[in-house]
This record gives sequence, structure tokens and C-alpha cells, in this order.
Amino acid sequence: MAQSVKADLMCGRQALGDMATEHTTHFVDAAKMNQLENGSVNLVVTSPPYPMIQMWDEIFAKSNPEITKLLANDDGWGAFEEMHLVMDKVWAECHRVTSEGGFVCINIGDATRSIGGGFAMYTNRARIDVKMRALGFTPLPDILWRKQSNAPNKFMGSGMLPAGAYVTYEHEYIAIYRKGGKRQFKTKEEKQNRRESAFFWEERNVWFSDLWDLKGTKQKLGGKENRERSAAYPFELPFRLIAMLSVRGDTVLDPFMGTGSTHAAAIALQRNSIGYEIDPTFEETIEETKAAAVEWGRQRQQQRLDDHKAFVVTREASGKVVKHFNEHHQIKVMTSQEKELKIEFPKGKWF
Ligand SMILES: C[S@@+](CC[C@H](N)C(=O)[O-])C[C@H]1O[C@@H](n2cnc3c(N)ncnc32)[C@H](O)[C@@H]1O
Repeated sequence: MAQSVKADLMCGRQALGDMATEHTTHFVDAAKMNQLENGSVNLVVTSPPYPMIQMWDEIFAKSNPEITKLLANDDGWGAFEEMHLVMDKVWAECHRVTSEGGFVCINIGDATRSIGGGFAMYTNRARIDVKMRALGFTPLPDILWRKQSNAPNKFMGSGMLPAGAYVTYEHEYIAIYRKGGKRQFKTKEEKQNRRESAFFWEERNVWFSDLWDLKGTKQKLGGKENRERSAAYPFELPFRLIAMLSVRGDTVLDPFMGTGSTHAAAIALQRNSIGYEIDPTFEETIEETKAAAVEWGRQRQQQRLDDHKAFVVTREASGKVVKHFNEHHQIKVMTSQEKELKIEFPKGKWF
């Protein structure tokens, strides 16, 4: 069912010289993504509301009021399961709309919480994995996002006295799943686009490590207040995942869009993006984020080139060889796979 009601649909189109990308947000529940055809999305990048983190209780309870009663009755694990059953519908939709060989990346943290005097860690990462496998996705090696904190209250429990303290919780996960087998790039054009969408060797070494520390990432996107309220992830997180797992012109979906970070990263990298957001008060923030993304994307792409040039200088200064050449950017590169790599700069404005 197409959304024709203006308030429900926000659509933007961005001119990119020879390539235009589209970035659309639907302000409806992602449990039914009726606007999307089967297999129409190449990559899902998202961070859902985390079950059993208090700030999200209300949003889950709106979908299933039973959750409020379970929490009031100190049934933490009952509430946990009901919250996941709400989200399972979105994961099932993600399976339907993802194309063969496409990926789903879910940023999720476990939740530590005391319910009725009993402290526990509610294992969201593991619960999502069970559902994703049941849907037919293949789990792939995941990323641990280290979020070290200096907060004085980060240690939980009985302080320096043994047998009653808990390990600090300072990480989240980026779980990665694939639908079906490896993606096929069949035509000459598809193969060429894949080569042009390559990343640098030294970017590969950082991005494909299983431990990310994104502390200190520059944040210039809009809606500061909403970003805090929605637990927004840093721009760098969707930026890396989109560069790693999709090619230029692909379609990226975020079923839990929040402030629009995933749109921003897609704009920066010349991918199309579709978002779902249940809370219509995010509309203005998403617009601000998209507008900021053109300039932010230009800076991030320029930074990639600058970092690469600095990498070549350092490597050669240490007596090592950088033996291949990229004609388009007139720079040396480490491998033949980077020879046709093209860093494009987003330009234009919304219309
Ligand atoms: C953790 S936040 C996402 C933050 C986002 N990654 C960002 O960088 O701003 C989760 C978002 O999902 C939205 N949400 C929750 N349940 C939803 C549903 N069923 N359908 C669509 N959006 C939903 C919430 O309103 C919230 O904005």
C-alpha cells in the first residue's frame, strides 16, 4: 500500500552529477513495510530500541500493553520475550525485502537491569540471533563496538568486596547476517561498479577488524537533542558498514531510522536509502540530518583521500613499496583491486 498521506511520507532526491540517489522516510511501524517489494533492498543497517533498556519500555508497551503489566509484576524475562516478539515482526520483514546475497547489520547491546531486586543481564544479542537463524539468515562474524566510559558509577555491585560485583558493561555488538549465498556481480557494468566502489587496503584493515572504537568520531549532524533522546549511533558506524557491504547505487534500509544517521551515510556514499520511523516528531531532525549530510559526506570522502595520501607517504618513508597506481585519483595504491576505486563527492541539494 503506497503512502499518499503527506504527513506519513518524506521523500528527498539528491542530484549527484551522473548519478542521483533517493532518500525516503516512511513514518509508520516497520512491522509492515508495505511500501517495499520483496528482495528490493541490498543492505539493512539499523539499531533498534533495545529491549529492557528503560527508555524504550513505553514504545514496546504501545505495541503490546501486556509488557507494562509484566514489568509491574517483576517478570523481567517475560517482558524481555514480549519485547522481542514485537521486534521479530520487523526482522521477518527485513528477510522478505532483502535481496539474495544482501546483508543485515544490527547494532544491539545487551541490557543490565534490576527488576524486583534481582539484577540480570538481558541478552538481546543472543535472542536476536535465534530469530535471525529461524528466518533463514546466515550469521557472519560480528563486530564488538567498544564504548569505554569514564563515568564514576560504571562499576556495579559490591565495590571492592568479593562475590557481589559485576563486570562493567562497555560494549555493544554489530551483528551481521546474510540472506542466501555470496552476492553475484554478473554483468560487465555490475563488475565495473563493484571495482569503483572498492575501499583502500588500509581502510580494509581497520573496518574489517572485529573491534571498533568509535570514540571521538566527529559529529556534525543535526538535531542534537533528538540524537541524545534516540540513542543515535555515530555517522561513522553506518558509513563504514555501507562502504563495506554494498556498492554505489544500491538501496540501504533502516527500519528504525531515529535521527537519520543511516540516510546521511547513504547520501555520503551514493547509495539510495529508505527509512521507517514510528515517531513522526523525528521528521524535522531527519530533514536537518539529510541537509547536513551533503557537506559532512564531502568532508568524510575528502578525509579518506587525505588519509590515504598520508598512509602512502608514511609507508614509503619506512622503506616499503606501494606498487600499484590509481589513474582516476592519480595516487599510489597497495593492491590491484584499488586501481579503479573512485571516491565520489555528494553534491546538490534536496528538491
Ligand atoms: C535506537 S533508535 C535509532 C537511532 C538511529 N540509529 C540514529 O542514529 O538516530 C530506535 C528508533 O526506532 C524507532 N522505532 C521503534 N519502534 C519502531 C517501529 N516498530 N517501527 C519504526 N520505528 C520504530 C524509535 O522511535 C527510535 O527513533
